[in-house]
Formats: sequence, structure tokens, C-alpha cells
Amino acid sequence: MTKLFLKLTINSFLIVCATVSLQAQDFFKAHAQINPYNYSVVKEKVFDHAAVSSAHPLASMVGAAIMKDGGNAFDAAISVQLSLAVVFPGAGNIGGGGFMLSRDKNGNLTGLDFREAAPAKAHKDMYLDEKGNPSATKSRDGASASGIPGSIAGMFSVHQNAKLAFSKLIEPAIELAEYGFVITEKEAKGLNNTRAQFLKNSSAPCAFTAKSNWKAGDTLIQKDLANTLRRIQQNGLAGFYEGVTADLIVKEMQHSEGIITKEDLKNYQPKIRVPLEFDYRNHHIISFAPPSSGGILIAQMMQMIQPYDVQKMGANTVASVSLMVEAQRRAYADRAEHMGDPDFYKVPTKTLVSAKYIQDRMKDYVPGVVGKSSAIKAGQIHESEQTTHFSVIDKEGNMVSITTTLNDTYGNKTIVAGAGFLLNNEMDDFSIKAGVPNMYGAIGGEANSIQPGKRMLSSMTPTLITVNNKPYLSIGTPGGTTIPNQVYEGLVNIIDHKMTLKAAIDAPRFHHQWIPDAVAFEADFPEATVNTLKANGYSITKRGYFGRMDGVIILSNGQREAAGDKRGDDSVAGY
Ligand code: GLY
Repeated sequence: MTKLFLKLTINSFLIVCATVSLQAQDFFKAHAQINPYNYSVVKEKVFDHAAVSSAHPLASMVGAAIMKDGGNAFDAAISVQLSLAVVFPGAGNIGGGGFMLSRDKNGNLTGLDFREAAPAKAHKDMYLDEKGNPSATKSRDGASASGIPGSIAGMFSVHQNAKLAFSKLIEPAIELAEYGFVITEKEAKGLNNTRAQFLKNSSAPCAFTAKSNWKAGDTLIQKDLANTLRRIQQNGLAGFYEGVTADLIVKEMQHSEGIITKEDLKNYQPKIRVPLEFDYRNHHIISFAPPSSGGILIAQMMQMIQPYDVQKMGANTVASVSLMVEAQRRAYADRAEHMGDPDFYKVPTKTLVSAKYIQDRMKDYVPGVVGKSSAIKAGQIHESEQTTHFSVIDKEGNMVSITTTLNDTYGNKTIVAGAGFLLNNEMDDFSIKAGVPNMYGAIGGEANSIQPGKRMLSSMTPTLITVNNKPYLSIGTPGGTTIPNQVYEGLVNIIDHKMTLKAAIDAPRFHHQWIPDAVAFEADFPEATVNTLKANGYSITKRGYFGRMDGVIILSNGQREAAGDKRGDDSVAGY
């Protein structure tokens, strides 16, 4: 009955939308196989040539169509990122930032950092009151929480490797915003649950607040966002970082003590970072360097467990989980002390991932003995969790892995009035005061203190794998500080436990981050393992799903298998 009602609702919207969309919809007219008002989720599929896996079916389908039209993985990535900003507003974004890791068909690696940066007026104590106490909200809610957005500058940098015109790549996103698309149940819930905060934090109502009872099958139209995207289409970078859009961002700042200026916007630059590479059981793993902590963490944790026969221990057993948690404990202790923006703080990356250091860190590890975080200090040297990840591999073997974020779900819940997009609350990823936990419970110190122009430490871990110097896997996930652990567990599932990509992605997860000294398990984690670990002395917490991992893998016959996480609306497409 409910299903039928939903179907009727969708159909009536189809009629409404058909009337609305009598004007030009160039992209969707030319690609009639993609229907923004009637689509379904595809969790796993094998394609002959090219594939995309992302948080939303429409974004994945757009990416696949772009590649079929002659674009490569970089073209597809731009269209996916911009479409996600429309169809997945909780994390897809133009008001946030991210990291792209790529390996082109010739084997060239690129780490592109389009992470948000602290505004020029930012300072170390900006979220502390006169008594030095941290504000509970200013680094998370409203314009005061925003770093300078990097996503649009990032996409123009990605375009250097693309084949098609940027104006073509942004067109699907414009049409999705202008003519609307049917929302999923998860999105409807998200918009309803956040409505009060949108209204409180923003200077004006917006498309998201047009209704208070969104439901699956409703059409979301975002005219202001469409206009912003058109300005970018027509004026390039200046369509976002200067002119009308910049004026609207700066105006929105005044509503809730934001400090981003026109100069901040004009001066924003993406940066190239040398990717972090290491080997694990005949797989060459490539991941993101600081200001992400992710690459270092997975390099440390995987090298810490490499001497052990993890396959023999089995997936999700007491033996394998204990070993993996003790590696997490040591690596995350280093995160809190030693990691930050390398342009502002000398991150000892080489040492942290060196064989000698890793060996020393595991010297006091005794299998079966429960570690204590109070006894583990950092080594002597030195995204609610929303973010989104997507992976693309094209027919030529170009691999792209992008993780992008507003930080929390729907960022700082502030929509730039007249421009229709959400701003990030990435400033909370800085350590606002030494030892004070951020929204993920992560602590930090000097390495990750606030300074003008500095990038806040991230956990985003876009990752690629080659085998015998051939492209193999593109993978990543959202989830704040749980991200590196999810990637670590996903890779161990694939490499040690020989799981399929989909099984590895859907497998139940655990998370330990040194402090708090507890291991969090997803609700469907094998009960027997959790109970024994508890009896052995581990402090255990149960929590809902974390992360939404998406990936594409190349099969031995050259086909591309794409898989989307069971935990969300994640969906794959290709050809
Ligand atoms: N805002 C989530 C991250 O960058 O780790």
C-alpha cells in the first residue's frame, strides 16, 4: 500500500516535472537513459570498459555517460563531484573541499589537495572565550565554522587532465538543480531532521526548507544553486571566487560571525601533494599524504600487521581484531601528536612510515594482551561523520579516487542566501585547543593548531592500488576519523581474506582511535567476537553503521567491477 502510494506520488511528480521541464535540458535529453525522476540503486555490477561508484545513482550515471561520450576518468570525476553537490547535499558540495588521488594511464600519480583553508583573520584561540574555554558550537555551527571552500578550484585543477570542455561537464549538475530530481527516503529524512538548523543558521529560507515533511519521491528543485553553477559555467573560477557568488558568501558571513573575505576567496589555491606509497603483500598501495592523516595511518597500520598471518587468523575473529586494534591504537596516538598541514608544521612523514619506526612501535605488542591507551604515547619523533567518496576507472586505465566533504552532515547547516549551497564546518577539524576533542572525539596539539591559510588535518583517505605496476583498485569512504580504519579493514578484507570488493565493502566494521580507549563495533559485527574481546578486557561500544565505502576494481579479464556500500544510497554505473 505504502509502496503503491509512493509510486503514484512519483508518477504525479513525473507529470508535474514533465510540464516544468519543457525548456531545454540538453544533457538529460541527449541521455534519455538517465531519468532524474525515476531511477534505481545498483549496488554491484561488472562493466566492460569503465565504471563509477558514488553516493548517489544519478551522480554515478552522469559520470558513466560522460565517459561514454568520450570523456576520461577525470572528466567523469568533475561531473560526479558537481552532480553530488546537487543530488547529495549532505556531503556532496561546492562549499567544501577534498582530496583527489589519481593514477593516469601512463602511471603518473597526482595528489590534489583542494581542502578548505583557514581564512586570513583566523587565529589559534578564535574559538575560546575570555577565560580560555572552548565554544561548544562556534567551530561547528554557522558561518563562523567555515574554512575557505576549495572544491571549485579543485575541479578546475582536475580539468587539466580532462578531455571535454568544463562547460559540458558542469551541465548535468545545472540541469539537476534547475529542473529538480526525485529524492530518496534517506535524503528526505536528512532534510526534515536538519530543517530547524538550516533556518536557525542561515540568513534566509532556501530550497531545503521549502517543505517541512519531505518524503521519498518528492522533487527537489534548487534554482539558486543552478544560477551559481551557471555563473561558474560562464565565468570559470571567477564565477565562484569573485563577483556575485563571492559577494553572496561574504554577505552570509555577517549572519553568524563568519570571517571569510573576498580576498580569502580570490587567494584560494589548490595544492599538489606527493602521494604516499607502500607495499603490502604484493600490492602497491598509494594514498593521500598530509594534510590528510589517512595515508600515514594506513601505511603504519598495514605495515604493523604485515609480519602476522592475518589470513590464517580469519576475518572478524578475536585474533585478527585484537591485532588490528593494537595497530590502530599506536597509529592514532601518532595522529594526535605529529600530524597537521605540512606547509605549517614539519610532519615527520618519512620516519612515521619507515620500517624501523614501525618495528619499534610494535615492540611492546604481545598477542592476546589488551593494550592500554594510557600506556601508549605518540612515538618519540614525532566527517555524525559526513563526507563522501567516489571512485572512477575508465577504459584507458586512468584511475581517480576522490573524497570530498563539508565535514558534518550538511556542513555548518548554513546555506548561502541567493547562492543556494551549503558551507562547510571544517574549522572543527583543527585542534581548537590542545587536548580538547573535536566532533569526532579526536584530539590534537600544536601540529594541528589554527593559523591563517593553514589546512586543517583530515582523515580522508582516497586510495589506489596497483599490482605488478598495473592499475587494480580505486577505493575510499566517508566517516571522519573512522575513515583510515575503514580503508585499512577494507584492504585487509580484499588482500588477506580474499573477499570480493562488494563483500569487503559491506563487511561489518570496528573502530579504535587511541582516545577514547574503547573499540566501537557496528551492530552487525559477530557477537561472539565482541563478547570474547570484552571478556578479554577491551572496553566495547556498539554503534550504528559508519562510512559508505565505494570502489572500482579491475578484474583479471580487464573488466571493471564496481561496488557501492550497503549502508547508503550508494550506486554504481558504467558501460
Ligand atoms: N572532515 C572530515 C575529514 O576531513 O577528515
